[in-house]
Order: sequence, then structure tokens, then C-alpha cells
Amino acid sequence: MELLENLKWRYATKKFDSSKSINKDDLEKLKQAVQLSVSSYGLQLYKVLIIQNKELKKELREAAWNQSQLTDASHIFVFCNYTERDNRDIDAFIEATSKIQNTPLEKLEGYGDFIKTSLSSKPIKEWQNWSEKQTYLALSNLLTACAELKIDSCPMEGFEQEKFNSILGLDQKGLNAAVIAPVGYRSEEDHTQFRKKVRKPKEILFEEI
Ligand SMILES: Cc1cc2nc3c(=O)[nH]c(=O)nc-3n(C[C@H](O)[C@H](O)[C@H](O)COP(=O)(O)O)c2cc1C
Repeated sequence: MELLENLKWRYATKKFDSSKSINKDDLEKLKQAVQLSVSSYGLQLYKVLIIQNKELKKELREAAWNQSQLTDASHIFVFCNYTERDNRDIDAFIEATSKIQNTPLEKLEGYGDFIKTSLSSKPIKEWQNWSEKQTYLALSNLLTACAELKIDSCPMEGFEQEKFNSILGLDQKGLNAAVIAPVGYRSEEDHTQFRKKVRKPKEILFEEI
């Protein structure tokens, strides 16, 4: 299974080679992998910013504990969850389903109402937490797709959300930076690439019932 080899190959890259950048074709493949991610009800209540601008990267690095991945990686994926609950997002999803799957809208309206009722019952903080969780599934697909393309990546929570939101103007857009992933190519000098993986033994991680 090649996937397992790819998962062994990847590691959370600490030092990227700033002279290397991802080509357009590969970037499109990564975007597609993110696009195909699963999400609760299929709603995809998030937006993904892909940042290449050098000045902006510098600014973001200062809000990310000065971690060098922010400036040295080719692109930074910023996964932003929606912060505002809006039934129009559910209507748009139902309409898209109707068009794409060629199903009459009337047949799907009941399902739309079910989603609306279910999601409106959560307190707003819980809802935001739920929408934030969705972004991690997209992050995971990005990391796996990167590994297949032999592109390096580093998932990161080590940044100040409020500062990111302000620098990127996310508050005004009803978005919040949940998790980020710089992607690019490892530097030969990154010693972490030679470290053995530390993972729990299967006997502890799993319980077969
Ligand atoms: C949600 C999340 C946040 C992380 N945040 C950071 C971070 O801010 N900086 C960093 O260098 N690594 C970060 N990591 C990387 C983890 O430390 C790393 O994935 C873990 O130690 C396993 O090592 P491996 O990915 O090299 O196999 C993060 C990983 C995840 C999943």
C-alpha cells in the first residue's frame, strides 16, 4: 500500500528550502484534494486562503511565534472556518445538490430543514467549534496529498488566531483562522527529517471488540 509509504515519508517540516516553489499543476492537485474533503452534511463551512505573497508571509510569521516555515515555505494554506451561522449556506448547499444530482428541489427541502434545525439547536460557541473541526479534515487531506506528490508540509496551530484574523481581514468576512499548513520543499539542513517517528504502539492505540 503506497499510502503507508507516503505517510512514513512525510514529517512536520521545520525548515523549508525557500528557493523552491510548488508548480501550478501540483498546486491545482492539492486544491482538488482539499475540495474533495469530507465534511459534516457536506456543507464545507470554511474557506481556504493560499498565501504566496512574501510581505504577507513575513507579517504572519511574526504572529506565529516567529516559526520560519511561514516565510520559507512555498505557499501557506490557512484553513478558515465560518464564524456566523447562516441558513443561506444550507439553502445554497441544497440548491447545488439539486442541480448537480438532478434532483427536484422539493425532494431535498425536508433534508435542508432537518440540517437547519439540527445546527440551530447548538449554542453559537459550540457551533463555531463544530465548524472549526471541519477544517481539520481538509487539512488532513492536504497533508496526505502533499505526501503523495513528495511535497513537504507542516500542520500548525502555533499562531495567534486573533492576529491572523486581523492581518488577513478575516473578522469582516465572518471567518476565523483555525489551522494552517505551510507547504513546499524541505531544506537539506532540516535534521528533523532524519528522526524516527514516535507513535503509540498498536496494542495501546487500538482495542478490537
Ligand atoms: C493540529 C496540529 C498543530 C501543530 N502545530 C505545530 C506547530 O505550530 N509547529 C510545528 O512545528 N509543528 C506543529 N505540529 C506538528 C506536530 O508536532 C507533528 O505532526 C507531530 O509531532 C508528529 O510528527 P510528524 O508529523 O513529523 O510525524 C502540529 C500538528 C498538528 C496536527
